[in-house]
Amino acid sequence: MTRAARAVASPRVVCIGDFRPIARARVPQSVFDYLDGGAEGEVTLRENCRIFNDVTFRPRHAVEVAKCDLHTRVVGLDLALPFLLAPVGYSRLMHPGGEVAAARAAGQAGTGYILSTISGHKMEDVKAGSTGPVFYQLYLMGGRGAAEASIERARVAGFSALVVTIDTPVAGIRERDHRNGMKELISGGLLEKIPYLAQILSRPGWLISFLRDGGVPALPNVVVPGKGPMALIDVAAALAESTVTWADLRWIREIWRGPIVVKGVLTGDDARHAIDEGAVAISVSNHGGRQLDGVPASLRALPEVVEAVKGRVEVLMDGGIRRGADIVKAICMGARAVLCGRAYAYGLAAAGEAGVDRAIEILRTDLERTLRLLGCASIAELDRSYVNVPKGWETG
Ligand SMILES: Cc1cc2nc3c(=O)[nH]c(=O)nc-3n(C[C@H](O)[C@H](O)[C@H](O)COP(=O)(O)O)c2cc1C
Repeated sequence: MTRAARAVASPRVVCIGDFRPIARARVPQSVFDYLDGGAEGEVTLRENCRIFNDVTFRPRHAVEVAKCDLHTRVVGLDLALPFLLAPVGYSRLMHPGGEVAAARAAGQAGTGYILSTISGHKMEDVKAGSTGPVFYQLYLMGGRGAAEASIERARVAGFSALVVTIDTPVAGIRERDHRNGMKELISGGLLEKIPYLAQILSRPGWLISFLRDGGVPALPNVVVPGKGPMALIDVAAALAESTVTWADLRWIREIWRGPIVVKGVLTGDDARHAIDEGAVAISVSNHGGRQLDGVPASLRALPEVVEAVKGRVEVLMDGGIRRGADIVKAICMGARAVLCGRAYAYGLAAAGEAGVDRAIEILRTDLERTLRLLGCASIAELDRSYVNVPKGWETG
């Protein structure tokens, strides 16, 4: 067992928050902040987590719950857990196992993994590495030609759904990344890198594994016709030229023909648009507070979307999930399931696949305990009667 795997297996790791310091100690500051940080003043990032305190439980006591059923169905797929692993771009910077390790951990736990367009591993390898369903998250970086090629590869490889993220017409400004010299570290010359090198050199274990893994590779799933795989440094500029519009969604639906999840919905109007364009599920999401700072927390936006959708499609949500109790609250408020981002990514950065396994296990035991404390035998039985929701939340 590696030292990192021992650290995450320690009985002192009892909640997701306990992975944070372990991750921080293993990876350079620039990588930790890329994962941990949000846009601008990080108001939405903080609010995503804080808002779960505003919703409180209404338990049913003196009820025996011998066994808890955590199963659910998302886009027609049976999942053993009511959460999937969200797309986390460039997970391979956090650990060489990256997206393959996270997908494998999800599959072993009986749940799904969503692979980001900004992946360091080939989509075929990620799919082959997992025994569970894998979805492909699509940006239109590199234009429709690159997108069409990746959609075709996703189909051939057996991906179960496309997740189209609509909240990234330009990358949000993550101030920590600028202060840490992320751009210079990825593509600058030695002179430009020098001011930022100390934090890298202070994590020799990470540096050795990163160099052994080949350093910063191009993006294997964004193959621009006539140019080849996109370089990581070109991502920000490419995103700024690739707003996903409703017309694009129509085009994507024509060439994919499988289930489409639209991610990044915060209003009833956008939810209705997404349904009109053929989405079978929506993820209420603000990108983990990494895009437009000052938008509401995802949980706060959830009731308006649930109300607008009127049961026509499945509603997922992501943002701020750090405990099983958070997942239960989101489901009580109408989410079919949630996506977890940082909750597993801290585990990945701390110890690779072993860290993701442990993060999933913590959330699973949290879920069972919370259901039993609530006096509820299954995820399927959760509804609004198990929570107190502040007045006025329905109206947006
Ligand atoms: C480091 C990092 C990278 C991300 N990259 C992507 C991405 O490539 N595509 C995407 O749709 N969302 C991306 N997200 C957003 C997540 O899919 C998800 O919406 C968010 O992490 C949920 O918030 P949480 O981290 O509080 O769970 C990223 C999030 C993080 C933390």
